[in-house]
Order: sequence, then structure tokens, then C-alpha cells
Amino acid sequence: NAFPTSASADAERPAGHRTVTPSADPANPPMSAVGTARTRVEGPGKVTGSVRYAADEPMQDLAFGWVVTSTVTRGRIRDIDISAVEGMPGVLGVIDHRNAPRLNLEAGSFFGPDGGMHLLQNDEVPHSGRPIALVVAETMEQARSAAAALRVTYDEEPHDVNFSLEHPAARPATSFFGEDATVGDVDAELAASAVVVDERYRTPEEHGAAMEPHSATAWWEDERLQVIDSNQGPFLVAMTVATLFSLDPAQVRVRAPHVGGGFGSKSAGCGPQLVLAVMATTTLGRPVRVTLTRSQVFQTVSMRPATDQRVRIGADADGRLRAIDHASAFEVSELADYLENCTELSNTLYAASAIRTRRTAVPVDILPPYSVRGPGATPGSFALESAMDEVAERLRMDPLELRLRNEPTVGPVSGLPFSRRNLVACLREGARRFGWVTRDHRPRTRREGRLLVGTGMAATSFGAGALPSSASITAETDGTFTVAIGASDIGTGARTALSAVAAEALRVDPEQIRLLIADSDLGPAWSAGGSRGTTSWSWAITEAAAELRSQLGDATLPLTVSFDTTESLGELPPMERHSYSAVFSEVTVDPATGEVRVRRLLGMFAVGRVINPLLARSQLVGGMIMGLSMALHEEGVRDPATGRHVNADFAGYHIAAHADVPDIEADFVPDYEPGDPSGIKGVGEIGTVGTAAAIANAVWHATGLRQRTLPIRLDRVL
Ligand code: MOS
Repeated sequence: NAFPTSASADAERPAGHRTVTPSADPANPPMSAVGTARTRVEGPGKVTGSVRYAADEPMQDLAFGWVVTSTVTRGRIRDIDISAVEGMPGVLGVIDHRNAPRLNLEAGSFFGPDGGMHLLQNDEVPHSGRPIALVVAETMEQARSAAAALRVTYDEEPHDVNFSLEHPAARPATSFFGEDATVGDVDAELAASAVVVDERYRTPEEHGAAMEPHSATAWWEDERLQVIDSNQGPFLVAMTVATLFSLDPAQVRVRAPHVGGGFGSKSAGCGPQLVLAVMATTTLGRPVRVTLTRSQVFQTVSMRPATDQRVRIGADADGRLRAIDHASAFEVSELADYLENCTELSNTLYAASAIRTRRTAVPVDILPPYSVRGPGATPGSFALESAMDEVAERLRMDPLELRLRNEPTVGPVSGLPFSRRNLVACLREGARRFGWVTRDHRPRTRREGRLLVGTGMAATSFGAGALPSSASITAETDGTFTVAIGASDIGTGARTALSAVAAEALRVDPEQIRLLIADSDLGPAWSAGGSRGTTSWSWAITEAAAELRSQLGDATLPLTVSFDTTESLGELPPMERHSYSAVFSEVTVDPATGEVRVRRLLGMFAVGRVINPLLARSQLVGGMIMGLSMALHEEGVRDPATGRHVNADFAGYHIAAHADVPDIEADFVPDYEPGDPSGIKGVGEIGTVGTAAAIANAVWHATGLRQRTLPIRLDRVL
């Protein structure tokens, strides 16, 4: 039984005979599947191998494409010589800029047209690792072998991959997520402050590095383009493909049945594997599968841009903040706009008399960056929460107390009320469990043998909300319900969570729910992105369920009801809606080798109502491990001379391994989002946000040395 259910009084009554309106009133919780720990519904399938990922689906007549990428960083393709390739065994064709289908260059992401998707449209090479051809053959090995025989020559041009806040090409970033903040007189407040911290913080390029490499299979069937692809939102991907290839959206069907992690890297419009697979199937009239190698994932799929941030904070002697001035720069590509919104937390986390934020984009010759694991907030919080720790240091104050003294009553920049702000509860409960009260706040005071020991903390938030989605529910004649929503499960357990949400909304047992997801034909739906997948899909399911229940009465079954949330979302009053957390860490530093080990990590989270404590905790722990990985290991390195990635694989790009991960505790304070029908916020990304700063602050506490550049490598500690 995949659903070990708690005893439910509701289960005794037949479905559809109740008049309860779905309600997330925390004082009167419905007896339901929500709030109950359940293992993943697809878990047995995953561990026994019956669940298929995008590259696993058997298919008649399947051909394989091998991606060829540019070996230079900027210039033009002089020639692609295919003569050696044409007669090779199994080769079906070579697609390059000379014969590829023409694309609609308006196609892009939310930020505008995205040239990262406009592959094989001309002879220009805009960055290293740019896909420049696809070799298609009967087998993957034949395609790979032929690709190696392709002779490509270039006319190289000078490139620039050197990025900094002071780069001459720096320009104001897009205000996609709202304008930069200017509240109060920052300069006057800084001048009047008892202490001022003015420091630079840097974070490198970081890759999504999901376990499953990107793969797409495309074929034409009955005048429709059929796609199985590894992505975070099949509906949005289908819309992008339709635009890109100038197709009627109804002609495109994208499925993403099981996805082995995304972390943002499968959320940007559509991936190169998909663009190339569609080109190949359209050109050759065969189903074509394109799967990226690990190294191609690093070189061709969007990454988090490097950031360079200057934070100035002024405070009174009692710890009251007078000014926060946060200037943030990040890399972009000329091919596409993007916003790494590093100043998000500076606008909302603390009260200050003056707040100024500035976001700067610096175009360099790289592939277009995009969201990765808590975009903006994660590198931004490293800067802000490190600077806050530096303020506490200069004031000789408990850094936890500094946070508590600067709790705002309304949004410090927006002036809007908070829907529910439970940061203080996270801070106090986290401190209690961690044993923070015994900490000597002076650095370099704890030793164990030759090891230096330190503790550190950070406060965080992450935006919560829902985006338009639609769901339909059918009451079947046998008492079961079919729930259809274009959601995707990127490994988080979305199927299990949404089954619980549907069961609660319908007042039935999860076993009575048949959930259909991961198919663009199921209608418009938001992606598993921005920590807004579950909130967006749950909203649609809950509303559809309420509508269905109101119609059930004497209706003849089967009965189907659909609901689109676009209108209800528009009626939400503007408010500051965020998840919150407090992160505590303990590290040891070996002064002889510079080795940093994280010994303990504790995160207390306020993430609204928790749908499934088992899965939510798992996501938060995973997020904290990614934060640890960011703090100590992850660093995409580019060689300025060649412009190429130096470490485009797991041999060179280090991520936290099991042996790096200590005991991690992630737990929840009671919370509830009044603006959401199910009372939920989001758990996708907040686990990552704040963790790097908590670790860097612990390293300072252990050693007395500030770590303002990530990752905290051995050579930076010594
Ligand atoms: Mo997430 S980085 O918003 O896919």
C-alpha cells in the first residue's frame, strides 16, 4: 500500500455527499491526507526500474542525434566539412546552420527573446560550447563516432569573459521583478551610523548539475509534434516550442513523465536537446532522440551567473539598522536578458531607515545564464547575511540578537503588510535547538585538538505565491476521481503531494485519486520553478474540487469540472508573501590544511502548511546540502585566455558528496499562508538560501577570517 493513511472519519462517508467548503483554517484543520507523512507514490517504480526517464522510452524506428559544440569562444564558422562523415555506418544526416529549419527569433523566456535557443541559425559563434551541428545516425554510438569525424574550421574573434562590477559594459539590469529600491537617504544614514560595514562579496558560476542529463525525443504523429523531454514544466515548454518553430500550440504535445532533477537548468524556455531533436525529426522524418553528455550539460545548459556584490550597512550602537545599500552585478549574455535578483532579501528582510538597491548586468561572451537553485536570493543572501554578521562583529553583538532587533512591521521598501511573517519563531526555535545561547561570540575561541571550531547563523526568506494554472477533475462512476494537471515531478514528490491536496479538497482518501500530470495536453500550468509549482497546482486542484463538489449533488457521473486560477490570483491583495528560515551551522577548520568541515546544520522553516512532512523535510535537507555545496565546493571556472570552461564535468566541478554532509536537521515552525486556499507557501528553494552565509559566518567564528568569496576553498582559508 503506497498510502499508509491516518484514520480518517471522512473516509467512512461516500464521496460527494459533503457540504464542507475547502478550508485551510489552521484552527479547524480538515481530517485529510495533507499533513501526513507518506512515501512517494512512484517510489517503488523508481527503485525497481519500471519508471522511465526521458531517454528510457523505447520507440520504433528511433534515430539518435549527437550534439557538436564549438571549440572556440567567439567568431564565425568558416566551414563544416561533412565529407568524411557522409559514408560512415548508420549516418542519416548532419544538421547545421546551412540546412537547419528556420526558427522564430522572437521565441524566448519571460525576460524576452532568448538567442540561447536560436540554434543553428547562422555562422556566428557567441560562446564556447555553443551547439553548432547535430549528427544523426541509427545508433548513438554511430552518431558519436561520426560527430568526432566532422571537421569544423573557424575564423576566431577576440572574446571577453572577464566579469566584474566595474566592467565598462555594465548596464542597469532589467526591472523584471520590480524597480531598484530607493528609500530614505542612504548617504546621510551611513554618515550618522556608529558602525559601517562596506564589503565586496563574490560568487562564481554555479551549475544546476541535475543527476539526469537533459534528453529529448521528438517525432511527428498525426500532424502533431510529439515530445518526451526532461524539463520542469511541459506546458510552458510546449508553448516555447510552438513559438520557436512557428506551430499552432495545439500541434505540440510535450510530456515529461519523470525528471531526475532540474534545479532551474530545465526551466529556461526549452533546452538545446529539444530544439535539436525537433529540427532533426522535422528534417529526417524519423523519431529522434538527443541526449546531452554530462560535459555538454555544463557547456550548453543555462547556469547561475557569477555575481559581484557590494554591501554597505550602517547601524547604531544598539544594533538598529540605519542603512542598507546593496549593489549587485551579475553576468549576462548578449544573446538573452536575465535577472539574477540578488537584492530581493535586502528589500524585505530587515527594517532600516534607508534602503538602496542597484542591480547591474554585465554582458560577456558566455551562454545565457538562467535561474539556478534559489535564483538571486541565494547569492544575494550570502552577501547580505555575511554583511549582517560583520555588523554584529563590529558591534560585539550576538548576530541572532541583531536580526531580532531589526524586524520590520511592514515591507521596508514596499510598505505592504506581511501576509504572515514567522522569521522570529524560526530564529528563536532554531537557536534553542542548536544551543546558540552558550556561544562565545568572539572568534577563534574554540579549539578541539588542532581544529578550530566555530558556529554561525543566517536568516532568510524566499518569495511565496502562485502562478496561473488549470486543473480538471472527473468524478468517475466507481467513486474514484481523476485529477488532471500539467504539473511536473522533478524528483520532489509532486505526484504524492498533489494526490494529498486533491484528496483533502475532495474529502476522500488518496487511494481514490488518479492523478495525471506531466503532459502539456492537460492544459495551462506553471512549471516546477520559483518554488511555486506546488502552490500553483494545488490552487487549481483545490478550486476545481470545490466546484466539482458543488455540482455533484444529483449529477450523473462521470462529471468533469475544470478550473483556471488566472482570475482568482488577480483578486489577491498585494502583500509581502514569503517563506522564512533561520539556518545554524557548526564547522571545524584545520589550520594546517585549510580544510573546512561542516559538522552540524540546522534549519528552522516557516513555509506555510506542510503538505507532506517527509517530502518537505527531504526537499529542505536537499536544499541545505546544495547550500553547503555552494559554500565549500561549487565553482564553474572559465579560462580567460580561451573563454572555455575549465571544469565542465563532475571530475572538476565539485559538489558535496555524502562524506561532506553532516547531521542535518530541518524542521518547521507552525505556519500558514492566509492568501492560499491550502495555506501553503513553498519549500523548493528556501533550504538553499542562507546556508552558505551561515557556513561562511561559522568559518569566521572559527578562524577570525572573513570569507567573502565563494567557494571557501582551502587556499582562501589559509
Ligand atoms: Mo527554480 S531555480 O526557480 O527552477
